[in-house]
Order: sequence, then structure tokens, then C-alpha cells
Amino acid sequence: MTVVDDIKAQLDIVDFVSQGGVKLRRTGKNYIGFCPFHSNTRTPAFVVFPDTQSWRCFGQCNEGGDIFGFVMKKEGWDFSETLKYLADKAGIVLKPMTPEVEAHQEVNAQISQMLEDCVTYYRQQMLETTPGMAALAYLRKRGLTDETIKIWGLGYAPGGWNDLAEHLKRKGYKEALILAGGMLTEGEEGRTYDKFRNRLMFPIRETYGKMVGFGGRVLDPNDVPKYMNSPKTELFDKGRLLYGLDMARQSIRRNDQAVIVEGYMDVIGLHQSGFDNAVSGMGTALTEDQFKLVKKFTRNIVLALDPDAAGDKATLKGLETARQSMDQVRELSFDALAHLRTESRLSADIRVTSLPDGKDPDEIALADPEAWKKIMLNAQPIVEHVMNSLMAGKDLNDAKVKRDIADQVMHLIADVPNPVERETYRQSLARKLRIDERSLSLTSTARPTTRRRMQASGDLLPSAKLQKAGRAEGNRALELHTILYLIENPEHKYKLDQVLAKNDVGILNTADFNEADCREAFRIVLASLAQDEVSAKDYLAEHLPDILEAAPTPDLPETSIQPSEEKELQDQVRNILRLRKAMIESRTLSLLYLQDAQEEKPYTDEELQILLFEQLEQRRKIDKAFGVYEPMRKVSTYRMPEIKPRSRRS
Ligand code: UTP
Ligand code: MN
Repeated sequence: MTVVDDIKAQLDIVDFVSQGGVKLRRTGKNYIGFCPFHSNTRTPAFVVFPDTQSWRCFGQCNEGGDIFGFVMKKEGWDFSETLKYLADKAGIVLKPMTPEVEAHQEVNAQISQMLEDCVTYYRQQMLETTPGMAALAYLRKRGLTDETIKIWGLGYAPGGWNDLAEHLKRKGYKEALILAGGMLTEGEEGRTYDKFRNRLMFPIRETYGKMVGFGGRVLDPNDVPKYMNSPKTELFDKGRLLYGLDMARQSIRRNDQAVIVEGYMDVIGLHQSGFDNAVSGMGTALTEDQFKLVKKFTRNIVLALDPDAAGDKATLKGLETARQSMDQVRELSFDALAHLRTESRLSADIRVTSLPDGKDPDEIALADPEAWKKIMLNAQPIVEHVMNSLMAGKDLNDAKVKRDIADQVMHLIADVPNPVERETYRQSLARKLRIDERSLSLTSTARPTTRRRMQASGDLLPSAKLQKAGRAEGNRALELHTILYLIENPEHKYKLDQVLAKNDVGILNTADFNEADCREAFRIVLASLAQDEVSAKDYLAEHLPDILEAAPTPDLPETSIQPSEEKELQDQVRNILRLRKAMIESRTLSLLYLQDAQEEKPYTDEELQILLFEQLEQRRKIDKAFGVYEPMRKVSTYRMPEIKPRSRRS
């Protein structure tokens, strides 16, 4: 396995291309969109093939390639630059290509090939030997078709101590390699014997199908353990793999949902019944790495768990892992009490379903697919599930128990992106705990408020991080940065305006805020400055009490600018300039897009030209204000935004 393979295994081309701003639409197995490399708004001719992880423009470019080729063409980089970039994206540390590294990769490739030969061998054993046929009969009895058995490469490991090893050695594999692949176990006195004996064999592959290990199930009920996996090897690490993902990944993307079950047989049974978005862990608690694997294909996860597992500590911990692994989106929001705060919301939908007693998913689905469908539809959102499991069997009259539960659940509720849902959960929690709703809102305001909370998590909007967030989420982070500053220092608006005016770039105005909530907050700041009944801060205190409650009361008179404040002011000005620059950039791109567009235009060509000049002029002023020239991001059709303002993601 080369670094390139490693990178490709980590990054999915469909995700990558669409995250880069190319809007893709699914057609059958593939995705289609407008080619980012040449301007054309009529015929989508750019196709991405998830199967082969490649792309091609069937239009003007008539060119295609893999994810590397895509980046090279898009950025105009050479291969080694692209490699560095993509390795970073994939979280892979590049080691210099020494002969040792090369040899190492070669060994891994051999191991994978050896495992592939094991699959073939085990299958032959199943079809051609008497004990193998008993294993086959067992699989059939459990409802699997011959087709399924073949697709999944199921097989039989014979009972002898060295059957497999001898077969592999005859094929030319060295014992050391077989050992390194985990197919041999070293006993006393250096003797080795087959790791899997008299077992039903499940090949385990990584996301894109490369062989990495096996799971083996007993056939003799007296044998232990019931399931045995390959030991940890160079290729096999059960905490970083999901069984069945290679078979499920396309369906997961198509259905925009992954179902995680407990066992191999469940995965296979579900796939055979048509639910081919199922995967499983391998007998251990689900890890963050495993959720990250799924995240590449969907943000919607259903955990289908045994009834005994569903409420236990390990599962709750697993859910916490799931939450941690999925992305958080920072939001500025008004909560139910009209308090303004920034909060993290989970950009994932995690649901839990607990199965009817004594039945595994494979049994249910193979017997009656409709029954499985129903179970899926009844999966509970994570908040509800945790709420119910925490309450089950507890004495809800005990005040401490109530507080504990409220605390744990409220922090999950805070994650929920939809405000209506959030409020509904809050009410439901209050009802279930039989406490006054208001006391729950008290619990919630008693949580660290905005400022303190950001400090606690170590990210009081440091500008480097913000800029990063700004790239990730459009200009939202930049807007947030400014508005939070204004809320804390409303009077500084005038000082900011002064600096801006001096630089001939116009004072702060509502048009600087694209995000609805930031704009709303800006209006309140303006209103606070426009009235003189009370101080601006007091006015804000009334409208944004939560924020101010958390803000430290300044000891110094508002008007005196301390050196540090001066610096902060400068920082704010730069932030605003950056925000404006980004807006100009996107307006410019839209205008360029309009210029090229074939369809009916809202402006004449001359008007467009003038508008473009205006943007350039503003751009020039901003650059001048920056004092240093910050090169504009390369104008290419690649990042061409839509003409309509991008709707906020919900
Ligand atoms: P189960 O015991 O629930 O088995 O283990 P199952 O999948 O329902 O198997 P069947 O239906 O009896 O054939 C669930 C999963 O836990 C792991 C395996 O991955 C198994 O699929 N496991 C279980 C182990 O790793 N070791 C064990 O000893 C048992
Ligand atoms: Mn089972």
C-alpha cells in the first residue's frame, strides 16, 4: 500500500470535489455537475465515478483522472505539492521515501495478497470438503443464499493445525509473512500453528476493498471464543475498520444513512434483505475512528443495538464518542429566552434503536424486511434515547438524580440544531423529570454563558482559528468576530467607523452582515446607540442579557483606549476589511459568471462591466487600507459561487 493508496483510502473523491464547491447531482451510480475547469452553464459534462474514485469532463476539457489529477489541474500544482496537500487533508504524515519505507509498503502489499489467497482457499475448503460443506449448510440454514455467501467471500478454515500454512507455503509464501499477516500463531518453542481452525471465515476488508484480516466464528458450540478476529497487524486494527463498509459505502451515500449493527452475520443478513447500508464494529465499543470512517459518506447514523446493550454505560459512552466524532457547527443564536449566545451544534443525526428481545437484525430482516423497516423508522433520536435510558429504573423523586439527568441531557439538547426541536426536548425533559420547565432553563442559564464557555474550551475566537472557520463556513466566522466585539463594546462602533472612514472604505453598516442572526444583533447594537434613555450597554443588557451578564464590567471609563484596546481595535478593522474583501471577491466572481453565462442576464454587458469596475475600485481601497497587498484568491471558475446568495445551511 503506497502513500497514494493511503490517501485515496482516506479521501472520497465525491466528497472532496463537492466540498471544493462543485455542485454534484447523483445520476445512477455516478455524479454529474458543471465542469469546474471550463465555463459552461448549459451542459453538465463533469462526471465523478465513486466506483473507480475518478472524474472526467466529457465536454471541452475531455480530460479525467483521480483525486490527485483533480487537485493538480485545479490548483496548477505539480505532483509533489499535491501529495503534500492531500496527505495533510487525509491526516497522513508523509515519510520520506526511503528504501526501507518502500520495502515496508511492498511487504504490506504482499500480506494483502496473501490474505486474498486465504479467502480463495477457505472458500474452496467450504465447497470441497466434508466439514466445509457442513459449514456451508450452517450458513444456508441461517438463511444466506449461495450468492450472498459468494459475494461476501465466506469460507471454512479446516480443523488441522497447519492446513492453511502448508497451503500458503506451497504457494511460495514465507512463514514470516504469514505470521505478519496474522494467520499464524506462535506457540511454545517457536512452533507455529494456524490461527483459525474449524471456523466459519469472514474476510474483513478496508473501505475500498483491500483485504486486511478475518473474523472466524465457531462451528462447534463448545469452542471458545465464539468469534475470533485477526490479531492486530500492520493492516488490521479492529478499532479503525468497520465490517462491511466496502460493500455498504455506496448505499450509505445514496441513502444518506448508515446503520451500525453488532455482528458480521447481521451485516450480511441485512444486505441480503436489501438493507445494504449496514456495517458493524468488531466486538468492541465503537471508536472515534470508526465514526470518522462513516462520516465520509453520511452524517446520519442509526445504531441498532441489542436490547441489553442499548441502555448500558458502554453504549452511552459510545454515543458520546459518536457526538465527539461528528462535526460541530458554531452558531450565534437567540435561545428561547431571547438570550444571545454562541453555541456548538451537532451537524449529524444520530439515532438509536433497540431491538426486540432475543432477536438479531439478521433474523428479523431475513424473516420479514418490513419488520426491519419499521424498526428503523422507530429509531429514537439520541436525546430521546439517552433521556429514556438514564431515567429507566431510577428514583425520579430524588433531587440529585434529577439534577444529574438534567445536566447530562441538557448538554445533548444544546447540540440540537433546530431551535423548535430543542425547545420541545427541553419541555419533554421537564415533563419527564416532573420539574418546572423554568428550573430547567435556570439550569441552562447556569451553564457557563457564552464568553466563559468559549474561554473554557480554550477558543475565545482567536483570529487564526477564526480565519480557518471563515474559510470553512463562508464569512460567518468573520461576521461573528465583529458582532461579538460590538456587543461587548457598542460604543467602539464609532471608533471603528472613524478608522474605516479615514481609509475611505465606508462605515460599518448592515450590509456588512450577511448572516441573519449577526445582522439582527447588529441592528440591536445600532438601536442601543441611537437611544439615550440608558447607556448602550444597559440597553443591550435588556435585549441581550445573557451575553452581558458574562462580560466583565470594565473598570476604566469607556472612552479611554488602552494600548491593548487600540490593538484590538486594529484587529477589528482588519477583520472587517477581510469580511468586505471576501464579499467583493464573491460579488466579482458572480459578475464574471454572469458575463460568461449564456442564459438571460439581469444586466447588459456594459452594466456588468461597470459593476465589475466598481468592485475592483472598492477592492483597491481595501487593499490600500490593509497597508499591505493581500493577493486575492485566484479567480478561477472553480470556486464560482451561485448567483443567488448561498442559503445558510440549516
Ligand atoms: P454476537 O455474539 O452477538 O454474535 O456478537 P452474532 O453476530 O449475533 O453472531 P451469530 O448470529 O450468533 O452468528 C456480535 C459481534 O461481536 C463480536 C463479533 O464481531 C460478533 O459479530 N464478537 C462476539 C467477538 O469479537 N468475540 C466474541 O467472542 C463474540
Ligand atoms: Mn446473531
